[in-house]
Amino acid sequence: MSATIAPLVKGFHDAKTGSIQYVVSCPHSKKAAIIDPVWDFDEKSARTCTNNADEILDYVRDQSLDVVWILDTHPHADHFSAAPYLKQRLSAPTAIGEHVVKVQKLWKNIYNLADDFPTDGSQWDRLLKDGDTFDIGRLQARVMFSPGHTLASITYVIGDAAFVHDTLMMPDSGTSRADFPGGSARELYASIERLLTLPQDTRIFVGHDYGRGGRKPLWESTVREQIQTNIHLRGGISEGEFVRIREARDAELELPHLMLLALQVNIRGGRLPAPEANEVSYLKVPLNQFASPSKVCGPWAIG
Ligand SMILES: [Fe+2]
Repeated sequence: MSATIAPLVKGFHDAKTGSIQYVVSCPHSKKAAIIDPVWDFDEKSARTCTNNADEILDYVRDQSLDVVWILDTHPHADHFSAAPYLKQRLSAPTAIGEHVVKVQKLWKNIYNLADDFPTDGSQWDRLLKDGDTFDIGRLQARVMFSPGHTLASITYVIGDAAFVHDTLMMPDSGTSRADFPGGSARELYASIERLLTLPQDTRIFVGHDYGRGGRKPLWESTVREQIQTNIHLRGGISEGEFVRIREARDAELELPHLMLLALQVNIRGGRLPAPEANEVSYLKVPLNQFASPSKVCGPWAIG
């Protein structure tokens, strides 16, 4: 086994949410991992479907890959995780960062879920902590705890590639927001500082891209490019200045329109709530619990 083999990385961009899903594969063994798969959701009809995940399955089949891990970097606020669907189709284990249990407790409280809702991470096959390693064929994956966007976020460093989720974005788009429950701009700064100590040629794969200024979506850069050109880092920004800029920017952002729906699915590992007596699952929404910078109820109206 070698940590220096360069994995093959295939990104799948979901135009609706700007999410990038990855298939990372070992060129020698054809073993692979899937990172941050999207379970499609049409909020107008409240219907789920598996278009994104099926596209990934097609790729896996076409490339004759053997998927050995289905990974999430954190509980997402903008989409549902397709991990359970892919686990069912591929018989591969699922994993996420160990601090997901804190996210579960936090959101269990917000949603006022029943006492028996498990907040022990048992919805995943493995909970990963900082420094953990695991194999994908001849590739070695290493976990870096990288909180800030959420308090459970982790980065997967696989060979010369780092899957940094919502920490850095593409250099022209800066960094990810840190204002969700449990988020922290100060922790995000520390996580980014740590990521930028990776070798300068490390390929950085981001969790989202929204095609800034109308350019086509992109998701790959390097540590060197991030240090030199990221608009929020400015070649060496102080923690205080970063936090000031980040928090000012976050105060202007609307919440992701799926956040209150997505978190209750994602703290279940990407599953809907148990069906009620009529065999229908329902999502619930806490009313008047979040500030809104929108024109309708803003600025910062709290009911
Ligand atoms: Fe996220």
